Amino acid sequence: MTTARAHTNIALIKYWGKKDPDLMLPYTSSLSMTLADYYTETSVHFDASLDADQFYLDGRQTPAAKVSAFLDLVRQQAGRQEFATVTSANHVPTTAGLASSASAYAALALAASTAAGMELSATELSRLARRGSGSASRSIAGGFVIWHRGHDDATSYAEPVATQPTIPIRMVVVLVNGGQKAVSSRAGMQNTVATSPFYSSFVTSNEAAIAPMQTALANNDFTMIGELAEASSYQMHATMLAAKPALSYFEPKTITALQHVQQLRQAGIPAYATMDAGPNVKILTLAPFVDRIVSTLRQDFKTVTVTQPGPAATLID
Ligand code: ADP
Ligand code: DP6
Ligand code: CO
Repeated sequence: MTTARAHTNIALIKYWGKKDPDLMLPYTSSLSMTLADYYTETSVHFDASLDADQFYLDGRQTPAAKVSAFLDLVRQQAGRQEFATVTSANHVPTTAGLASSASAYAALALAASTAAGMELSATELSRLARRGSGSASRSIAGGFVIWHRGHDDATSYAEPVATQPTIPIRMVVVLVNGGQKAVSSRAGMQNTVATSPFYSSFVTSNEAAIAPMQTALANNDFTMIGELAEASSYQMHATMLAAKPALSYFEPKTITALQHVQQLRQAGIPAYATMDAGPNVKILTLAPFVDRIVSTLRQDFKTVTVTQPGPAATLID
């Protein structure tokens, strides 16, 4: 049995839409921060006596179709036939817009490829993880990570940004609702690409933000990092709102959290919001301002946690 741990990541410049759904090639590059405190641990055991893949998530037997399709890619690459038992534990709310699919498929890529006898490079692992969930390509690496959109299977992978920031960037996670969302990221982005009249504008402006974000990270320019991240998030949600049917992951308390961020900024606190495909709000800030932000958000929210850049995916015993 082989076990891997991978941490989730939150995109500062978002991925929302696939140019090639089979190969999982995105329309835009994206750029994320891997999180220290949220992760998935997954064990894989190939077993010649099985007649189907078995998947256990958080102690429960779970339908294995998606995991099994991913294992097919691993079997194909490794030249193996056996089915596998996959046992996974999420230390992150599942399917809630906190990127469980990112840590899940990064951990599965590492555990399954190793269990199948392969020793993949970080780039090969990222390409493999991408096939399970696009955002998972970025959870192979730690710190700040760029997923190059690429133009084929070989060129679409993630790696750490060339120059990591040295300022103490923190992310305050405001839990609005940890329950499962109604529309998965996959379905949501597919319909956005197909129907939103704003989609091509999103692609243009999101892609144009990649180089400035790399520069801002290299220059430790937190204001620029925050402004670019917040803009990418709002632009992604705007293109969804314009889809048919309109897609909104906002809940009433999402707005409450976003208003706090605006007011904190008016009071001179560096705080910028980003949201994924779910109602939860993540606030980017710097370490000296964490206490002020947490105490403000705790006025309205029970679960407010602080995290920081986290490590690359690893094998564990
Ligand atoms: P999230 O915002 O949590 O990333 P998504 O809509 O992207 O939500 O995807 C969640 C998908 O990831 C679902 O198909 C879910 O079953 C799958 N998933 C979540 N955790 C795991 C895990 N530990 N192992 C395998 N698949 C997982
Ligand atoms: C809003 O990677 O979860 O979190 O590739 O279909 O599995 P699939 O979707 P997923 O989408 C993530 C969307 C996002 C933005 C981001 O992480 O870049
Ligand atoms: Co996801």
